[in-house]
Amino acid sequence: MSLPATTAPADAPGAAAWARALVKTYGSGPTAVHALDGVDIDFAAGKFTAIMGPSGSGKSTLMHCMAGLDTATSGTVMVGAKEIGRMKQRELTRLRRTDLGFIFQSFNLIPTLTAAENITLPLDIARRPVDRAWFDEVVAAVGLGDRLKHKPDELSGGQQQRVACARALVSRPAVVFADEPTGNLDSHSAGEVLAFLRRSVEDLGQTVVMVTHDPRSASYAHRVVFLADGRIAGDIADPTHETILEALAGLAPDA
Ligand SMILES: Nc1ncnc2c1ncn2[C@@H]1O[C@H](COP(=O)(O)OP(=O)(O)OP(=O)(O)O)[C@@H](O)[C@H]1O
Ligand SMILES: [Mg+2]
Repeated sequence: MSLPATTAPADAPGAAAWARALVKTYGSGPTAVHALDGVDIDFAAGKFTAIMGPSGSGKSTLMHCMAGLDTATSGTVMVGAKEIGRMKQRELTRLRRTDLGFIFQSFNLIPTLTAAENITLPLDIARRPVDRAWFDEVVAAVGLGDRLKHKPDELSGGQQQRVACARALVSRPAVVFADEPTGNLDSHSAGEVLAFLRRSVEDLGQTVVMVTHDPRSASYAHRVVFLADGRIAGDIADPTHETILEALAGLAPDA
């Protein structure tokens, strides 16, 4: 974390979050794994970005470092005007609760709480008031209005993941990071979640970054970034299923 803190890189106006020279190395010596090997990336505000790449290419590591869930070995990570690497643990925890949303492959809902209680949990923990108008807007966008009193085990997988999406959005985070959010869903439920993520960007102005292995899921995004061996290996705007498949064909076979 050697670079000085700045509020926006000159070459990345409008970035909601960005990283420069990001390195994450696990272990040391000959067995060291370079999960991220010098990544420069900007995530534009109000856009939906997908991240693809072979298994082990560093996608989850990038998301975790960007969201302050893991510490980079070196480099700079900025979310808005805040430099993640310079923050103390308490500050970071607060940032994660209020400025960042995270959606995991496994929905990570609390089974004893209702859908509504799960959605407001991050704000409740942070002792922040719930903006009811925004809550209603998110719940309407996610299409859960009639399921709010149900517990997770009374909801389908797609509904549970939509609750997790609403939970990630309710604090109006600067960025929502989603790591394979549709990985555990059938194609119908996946479509519901992806349509919601896209709508949260189009209608609610959210910034979303999503890891996916699925070209059809990635085609919901405004942009697809490809990782290979911990480096940026490609970047396409306004992707379609076809252009994503073409780009993947140039990467490793299990992408
Ligand atoms: N805690 C850890 N300790 C050691 N190595 C790790 C650790 N976490 C990840 N790695 C390694 O770092 C590399 C990148 O892992 P990462 O989980 O970011 O890949 P990924 O692109 O998300 O893969 P997948 O598509 O399988 O989820 C891999 O080689 C992985 O084995
Ligand atoms: Mg992963």
